[in-house]
Amino acid sequence: MTVGMEIPSSLAARLHAARHVVALTGAGISAESGVPTFRDAQTGLWARYRPEELATPQAFMRDPRTVWEWYAWRRALVAKAVPNAGHIALSELEQRVPRFTLITQNVDGLHHAAGSRNVLELHGNIQRTRCFDRSHRADTWDESGELPPRCPTCGSPLRPDVVWFGERLPESVLAQALSAAASCDLFLCIGTSAVVEPAASMPFAALQNGTLVVEINPHPTPLTSRAHHALNAPAGVALPKLVEAAWPPQVS
Ligand code: OAD
Repeated sequence: MTVGMEIPSSLAARLHAARHVVALTGAGISAESGVPTFRDAQTGLWARYRPEELATPQAFMRDPRTVWEWYAWRRALVAKAVPNAGHIALSELEQRVPRFTLITQNVDGLHHAAGSRNVLELHGNIQRTRCFDRSHRADTWDESGELPPRCPTCGSPLRPDVVWFGERLPESVLAQALSAAASCDLFLCIGTSAVVEPAASMPFAALQNGTLVVEINPHPTPLTSRAHHALNAPAGVALPKLVEAAWPPQVS
């Protein structure tokens, strides 16, 4: 097990030779883009709420306006965020390896913004909106009336297209993610506290399959002691170093 920030040459060689790399990301990879992680203290206006109290269907039915406004605040926050060196390194890695699957728990869309193409959004995307009753997609809506706005198709309240606590994950996305985690030869677990299922089990399933598992996180998690390599550094530092170690720039 490797703890610390040096990239062992054995790891660089394994990444260079990998046929199918899976990267599982959590809120930590967007921290350096200024997006608060999920279990960071909520800042400012929302300090008095716990996310678990707002990101549920029950909270929405009880107080739809507050939930809608909390997500409007988060959408505005994300709209100002730009991909950081960690997101960009993963986009470069996708170009380097024969097969690459990016599984994210994040809803901020920053992996797409960084150029990643094969992205599985386990928990949806905050920049997409649908209606509560029938999941009609809504790209525009009448802002003049009540909040939440009403679905232009069926009139039911609009909500963010994200997975709330207690809701099922999109089945096809989850199936693709589980299949990739079970068949890859190198698994990167980046910026996640590795406690929320089903994502949290994926690196352990990879370990069971004999896959090389690498964790990137400045703080310990339940995975740290089991990973083959634990790079305790921010994703924006570790990921560019990892890609550069596996594909050293050519001296011209
Ligand atoms: P958490 O907030 O639980 O964990 C963020 C992780 O990122 C922590 O382990 C931090 O140590 C780490 N971290 C912080 N800064 C970092 C950096 N610069 N580079 C790398 N790592 C860093 O967020 P998630 O694990 O993503 O689910 O949470 C998983 C799910 O729990 C979320 O998707 C959300 C939440 O409930 C739903 O909303 C359904």
